[in-house]
Amino acid sequence: MAESRIPGRAAPRGMTHHLLDYEAARRTFTWENARIALTGGSDPRLNIAYEAIDRRVQRGYGVWLAARFIDRAGNRLDITYSQLQSRCNRFANALRSLEIPRGAPVATLLGRSAELFTVALGTLKAGNVFCPLFSAFGPEPLKTRLALGHIQVLVTSGAFYRRKVAGIRAALGALRHVLIVREDPHEELPEGTTDFAELMRQASDSYETAPTHDTDVALLHFTSGTTGMPKGVTLTHAAVIAQHATSELVLDLHPQEVFWCTADPGWVTGIAYGMIGPLTCGVTLIVDQEEFDPQRWYRILAEERVNVWYTAPTAIRMLMKAGLELTRAHRYPELRLMASVGEPLNAEAVLWGVEAFGQPFHDTWWQTETGAIMIANFPACGVVPGSMGRAVPGIEAAVLRRTERGVQVVSSPEEVGEIGLRPGWPSMFSGYLDNPERYRASFHDGWYLAGDLARRDRDGYFWFIGRADDVIKSAGHLISPFELESALMQHPAVAQAAVIGIPDPIAGEAVKAFVELKSAVAPDEALRSAILGHARRLLGAAVAPREIAFSEALPRTRSGKIMRRLLRARELGLPEGDLSTLEGRP
Ligand code: WT7
Repeated sequence: MAESRIPGRAAPRGMTHHLLDYEAARRTFTWENARIALTGGSDPRLNIAYEAIDRRVQRGYGVWLAARFIDRAGNRLDITYSQLQSRCNRFANALRSLEIPRGAPVATLLGRSAELFTVALGTLKAGNVFCPLFSAFGPEPLKTRLALGHIQVLVTSGAFYRRKVAGIRAALGALRHVLIVREDPHEELPEGTTDFAELMRQASDSYETAPTHDTDVALLHFTSGTTGMPKGVTLTHAAVIAQHATSELVLDLHPQEVFWCTADPGWVTGIAYGMIGPLTCGVTLIVDQEEFDPQRWYRILAEERVNVWYTAPTAIRMLMKAGLELTRAHRYPELRLMASVGEPLNAEAVLWGVEAFGQPFHDTWWQTETGAIMIANFPACGVVPGSMGRAVPGIEAAVLRRTERGVQVVSSPEEVGEIGLRPGWPSMFSGYLDNPERYRASFHDGWYLAGDLARRDRDGYFWFIGRADDVIKSAGHLISPFELESALMQHPAVAQAAVIGIPDPIAGEAVKAFVELKSAVAPDEALRSAILGHARRLLGAAVAPREIAFSEALPRTRSGKIMRRLLRARELGLPEGDLSTLEGRP
């Protein structure tokens, strides 16, 4: 195994990797020490925003750049740690002036802007719960999440408000304030909303961080399951301990380095590693406000002198497709570490990294529920192409087999089982919002079961096999088939819908919907595009199905549940598996 490892870049002269000897780190690492390393002591209080900003300022990083925002035209907005601190303080005061009680949830529906950072960290500083919403969502998924999250304050733009929120607002009983970030001061404020900038102007820029503790809920991230509506995953302030430790051990961040995490802050990666963990390391974050574009990305990597780059397989595959000529239009002497997350990173993509940048991509694995990276290829250890890597120090990970008597650890390197993690790391989710049964059902015999299938080889490297459920991963976005089916069924012609993922060379999986029409309706092209249009309007183009097929009778179990697995098997010509529960069978 050791021979097939590809070395990463060496650390530049004068710098040492945070993790040099994996085995030694596993032996000596403790979360207690990690907490002390971050906070410098034994204060029982802990607050994510305090660690990310105030402590940096205290340690003299105030004048350093915390973040650089790059807009469509290439203009840069630079914000220092001190400036970020004042902005967050103002927002924390603004929440108090609106009489929002501590602990109440605050959401954003914003592009990748400085205001999003201000609201996220200001909310945490005030002891409120921050919930980012993906800005490409349409009104339907937004309504679901705002309602499930009992969101009391929403910060958004005038355009998003008019297009996506105004029409659903009446259904959102808990929503007390909508704050609008205006694009220009002449933009008219929609009725029933408040001007964000004005509120900020009136607020004081000093604020004493709320006395939160390790177990207080800080973040609310929505994730998808097979059945039912999205699940609200709660992470506590203690998450910052694991996000900081992994930003060092896995992403190897050092103070004043330039770090680019390409994930959108609407998802957990964009908050944990696009914001919190790296700020606790004192880096400068690059935030690109524009959508993916190969030439733009290469230019940013080169011109911003990015040192560490955390991206995703779909983006890497799109860069591969765009061709090496574009890569070679620039040089990247400062780029010393490239990592990936969110979907399977195939060996070809890792090797393409070597061809294009002279270094491999380091795959990492984790989930919303784990709150931080759990499995990784570490910078100083070399990359095993195609493997997700080994357990992070402080994390006990295994492949498990479910049996009637409970779960068992798989020891054979050939056997596929479910990834399990021993609870006890600080960023482990503290619950599924309002769903304690679902939370309890994620744990068996002292293990958290992640819902992913994998193998673990003799050297402890994990190899991803697939999901254990019907959840779809398209371009890195976790998509709940149930949520899409519910939206499709709101169309008057649709009787029943079933949604599956089909392989796609770039996005990993693409969403395909099968639709059973009401009996009086005839299937034709006009109806197909009407249903597609309906889905895009409700869901947003990023999560709507790419393809719709009409089906006369969707396969169901005798109890009436749609058999997505069977649909998928038939679509892809795979073995149909156990059909004993199929309706209409003897
Ligand atoms: C699911 C979690 C990872 C944080 C952001 C997404 C899949 C994640 C990998 C990887 C193969 C991966 C899993 C996981 N996934 N990383 N390196 N290789 N699959 O968090 O939206 O909660 O998604 O993403 O299926 O369970 P998420």
